[in-house]
Amino acid sequence: MEKEKFYITTPIYYPSDKLHIGHSYCTVATDTMARYKRLRGYDVMFLTGTDEHGQKIERIANSQNMTPKQYTDKVVTGIKELWDTLCISYDKFIRTTDDYHVKTVQKIFKQLYDQGDIYKSAYEGWYCTPCESFFTEHQLVDGKCPDCGRDVELLKEESYFFRLSKYQDRIIKYMEENPEFLQPNTRQNEMINNFLKPGLEDLAVSRTSFKWGVPVEFDPGHIVYVWVDALSNYITALGYGTEDDSLFQKFWPADVHVVGKEIVRFHAIIWPAMLMALHLPLPKQIFGHGWLVINGGKMSKSVGNVVDPNVLVNKYGVDAIRYFLLREIAFGQDGNFTNEALIQRINSDLANDLGNLVSRTAGMIEKYFDGQLPETHTATAFDAELQEMAKTTVANVETAMEKMFFSDALIEIWNLVRRTNKYIDETQPWILCKDESKKAELANALYHVAESIRIISVLITPFMPNTPAKMRVQFCIEEGEATTWESTKTWGVLPKALKAVKGETLFPRIDMKKELAELDAAIKASQATSIANQQKKEEPKHNEPEYPAEITIDDFCKVQLKVGEVIESAEVKGSKKLLRNIVKFGEEERVIFSGIKGTYAPGELVGKRVVVAYNLKPRKMMGEMSYGMILCAEDGDGKLSILTTADENFASGSGIS
Ligand code: ME8
Ligand code: MG
Repeated sequence: MEKEKFYITTPIYYPSDKLHIGHSYCTVATDTMARYKRLRGYDVMFLTGTDEHGQKIERIANSQNMTPKQYTDKVVTGIKELWDTLCISYDKFIRTTDDYHVKTVQKIFKQLYDQGDIYKSAYEGWYCTPCESFFTEHQLVDGKCPDCGRDVELLKEESYFFRLSKYQDRIIKYMEENPEFLQPNTRQNEMINNFLKPGLEDLAVSRTSFKWGVPVEFDPGHIVYVWVDALSNYITALGYGTEDDSLFQKFWPADVHVVGKEIVRFHAIIWPAMLMALHLPLPKQIFGHGWLVINGGKMSKSVGNVVDPNVLVNKYGVDAIRYFLLREIAFGQDGNFTNEALIQRINSDLANDLGNLVSRTAGMIEKYFDGQLPETHTATAFDAELQEMAKTTVANVETAMEKMFFSDALIEIWNLVRRTNKYIDETQPWILCKDESKKAELANALYHVAESIRIISVLITPFMPNTPAKMRVQFCIEEGEATTWESTKTWGVLPKALKAVKGETLFPRIDMKKELAELDAAIKASQATSIANQQKKEEPKHNEPEYPAEITIDDFCKVQLKVGEVIESAEVKGSKKLLRNIVKFGEEERVIFSGIKGTYAPGELVGKRVVVAYNLKPRKMMGEMSYGMILCAEDGDGKLSILTTADENFASGSGIS
C-alpha cells in the first residue's frame, strides 16, 4: 500500500548569525510533528530554509562590506549547524537565493501579471524596513510603525500591485467553511474581524528603491516584494512550475504551515490569495504558535535578551532542551523562559521521574536476577491497571499530537511514567526478593515495568531523538518490531526472559543553586559577545515588535482591584505631582498617594469612587507608607483621567472582576 503523505513547513528564517532559543522553538515543534508522522508511517516532507532577500539583508551586508549573497552564505552555514545541533530532521532546506526558486518566482509574477491579477500603478506610502511592510498614513501610530514602533520612511514609487481585494470574500468564506484552517481557533476571528471584514487593499508587490531581490523579468528595475518571494517557497521547493514537478504533485497542498503568531496574517491572507490566483489548492492548516518571552518581552536580538540554544544544549543535552520547550509552553500560547523553570523540569520530570525509573528497574533486574528474568512470571494485583493506563495513554497521545498539542501529549506520557514508578512502589520488589516463593511474582513485576519503559521509549521518540536508544540499550531492546508505534498498542512484546544492563544515567540531577549562577554567567557571556558583534556590525534591528507577554487568567486574578471612596485629598509638601488621599473601603480607611496633582486639584476627588490596586505591596512615599494604587488612564501627552464606576454611589469596598 502506498504511504499517505504529510507535508509540513517552518517559516523560512531571516538569515542571522545568532538565532536564539525562540527561533529554535518553532523548528523543534515542527520537527517533532514531522518525526511523529514518520513514526506513524507517513511519507513526510519537512521543509525549512532561509528568506534571504530584502532591504534589511542588503543593508546588513553593506555594513559588513560584503555582497548580500556573501553575507547570507556565511550565516546560512551557521543556521544549518544549529539545526543539526537541535536534531532537526528536515527533508529539504530551501534558500530563496536558489536558482530554481528565483526562476519560479519570476514565472509566478509573470503569470499573475498576464492574467490581470497584478497591475502597474504608483505607490505612495510609509515603509517600515525591519518589518518589510507598507502602511497608510492612518495606520501609523504616532507616526511610527504600528507593528514595531520604529521609524517609517515615506516612499513614492512606481509599483506593481496584486489584486488582494478581489480575494477578500473568498478568503472569508473559506475560513468560515474550514474552521480547522487557522489554528488555534482564536486566530481566525482575529483575521476575519481585524483584517478581512474591514476590507483588504491591493498589495504593492514590487520595489524599485533597492536591488536585493528577485528581478521582475519584464520590467528591469523592479524587484519582487519580499513576502511574495518568501511565501512562494512552499511550492517552489517542491518543483512547482519546473519540468519535474513530481514532488509538487505528490505533496501539495501542505498539511500544515507552522508559523509564529506575528506572521499569521501573511500566511492566512496573502498566501491564500496568491494560491487562489494561481488556481492552486490552499494549505490544509496554518498553525500560529506563540512566543517565547523573557521577563514579559519577546526574546529578540535587538533587545539583547536572547538565550543561545548552543549554551543550553552544551550544558544539558538536546533532548532536555527539546523536552522543556514543548512541555513548558502550550503550543499556540506565549510562554516565559526562565533558567529556574528549565532546571526544575530537568530535575523533576527527566532526572527524577524518567531517569530514575529506568535506572532503578535495570538495577533491580541485575541485582535480583543477575541481569536476566526467568521465563516463569506470576501476575500481581496491580498489572491490569498499568496495562490499561498504557493503552489509554497511547490513545490520548495520538489525539493530542493530531492537534499539535505537544505539551498535552507530554503530560500524558509523564502520567504513565509516574504511574509506572507507582507500580514499583505497589509491588515492592525489594520485599518480594526476600521470599524465594515470590520470585515469579517479582519477575512479573519487573517485566511489567520494562514493558512500560519500552512503550514510553516509543512515545517520546518524536520529542527526544537520543533518549529512546539510551533507554532501550539497558533492556536489550533492538530497533524493530518492539519499537514501532503500533507496538505500543500491544502489551507483552518483550521476551519473558528479558535481559537488562544498567547503563549511563539518562539525566543527571542538577544542583539548582550552583547551576543557576553558572547558567546565568554563561548566557550573559554569550549575550555580551552577541551584543558586541552586533554593535560592531551596526546590524539593523529585527522585525520583532515588543508586545507585553500574555498572562493567564490566574495571573490576572492575582491583582485584587477594589472600589474605594476618596474621603480626603490633600497636597503633599515638597511634591509637584503627589496628592495624599484617604480612601475608604467599607469600614476600612487607607492612605494612598497618587501622582495626579497635575490633573486634579486637592479636594476635587473627594466623594468620588476610584479603582484601586488593593493588594499592591505598601511602599514608602514622601516619608509615609502608601497602601495601594489609584488607577488612572494616561494618554500620549501625559494627560490623566481616574477610573471610576458608572454608578457614582457604588458601595465602596466592592471587588472588581
Ligand atoms: O518572519 N518565540 O522570519 P524570522 C517564538 N522570514 N518564535 C519566535 C521568536 C520567539 N521569541 N522569535 C522568532 C520571518 N520566532 C520571515 C518568515 S515565511 C514565508 C517568512 C519565530 O526569522 C517567528 O515567529 O523573523 C517565525 O515563525 C520564525 O521564528 C522565523 O522568524
Ligand atoms: Mg520575525
